[in-house]
Amino acid sequence: MPTNLQDILDQIHEQVTARSDHGEVATYIPELARVDPKQFGLAVALPDGRLLSVGDAEVPFSIQSISKVFTLAIALGRVGNQLWKRVGREPSGHAFNSILQLEHEKGIPRNPFINAGAIVVTDVILASSSPKEALAGLLTFIRTAADDPNIYINEAVARSEKETGHRNLALAHFMRGFGNLTHEPELTLGTYFHQCAVEMSCRQLAMAGRFLVNARGMPHLISPSRIRRINALMMTCGHYDGSGDFAFRVGLPAKSGVGGGILVIVPGKASIAVWSPGLTPLGNSRLGTEAVHLLAQRTQWSVF
Ligand code: DON
Repeated sequence: MPTNLQDILDQIHEQVTARSDHGEVATYIPELARVDPKQFGLAVALPDGRLLSVGDAEVPFSIQSISKVFTLAIALGRVGNQLWKRVGREPSGHAFNSILQLEHEKGIPRNPFINAGAIVVTDVILASSSPKEALAGLLTFIRTAADDPNIYINEAVARSEKETGHRNLALAHFMRGFGNLTHEPELTLGTYFHQCAVEMSCRQLAMAGRFLVNARGMPHLISPSRIRRINALMMTCGHYDGSGDFAFRVGLPAKSGVGGGILVIVPGKASIAVWSPGLTPLGNSRLGTEAVHLLAQRTQWSVF
């Protein structure tokens, strides 16, 4: 770990916020379209207990698809390897909300991080919990991992997504048609929309991500073998059809969300959260990706 990590964060902040192209905020969820794209935050949690940050690291944002990492950990805790009968473990090479492969692949989504896969994961959790219990369990998991009770769901964002969630409804109905959704699509999606609407700051997200680092000083909420597997899926599928490019540029497991957040894990070393709401055309944070690219270069953090 470089001793001048705070200097590196300060330099990256200065460098990326000087860029004129911030990308476009997600507009298909109206509530997210109102977020100021000029914001940028970055936080790094280390095994020795230190939390370093820069920029808007205390501003809560919608974690969106980053929630899929937490629900995957919870579903694996409930049903273990049985989960893989209903969800694959391969990158899709398609957009996060694509329906294309589902028709040829019998309603089994390619992986738990595309929307279809995450909807099945939520459906699995609902086999042993009501929607209310599932969301309470998710918040408890995240709050425990982050060691912070002040993490909540933004109801307005959940409602906003429900009102415009036609593609997710189509995915859910399509999978139900193949027998790969056990609850009514509206029930599973009601829970899914709320899990996506969890809000966290970079500081809180970097803290919550520590459960995937597997180092002394980090919370041990799941087994080391499960940590390895979730990290492998983040590396291969965490950025949808941009996963290969992210692995090439950054070389670390990560999960993005259309709120502009990215959770990045440096196995054994650190949990990183970056946020900037402007997105690339693939739905990943533009400045966030740039920032972790620079951070990985300057710290030499990589799994390769
Ligand atoms: O289901 C959706 O469309 C959103 N709640 C989450 C999508 C998302 O974050 C994709 N990430 N890049």
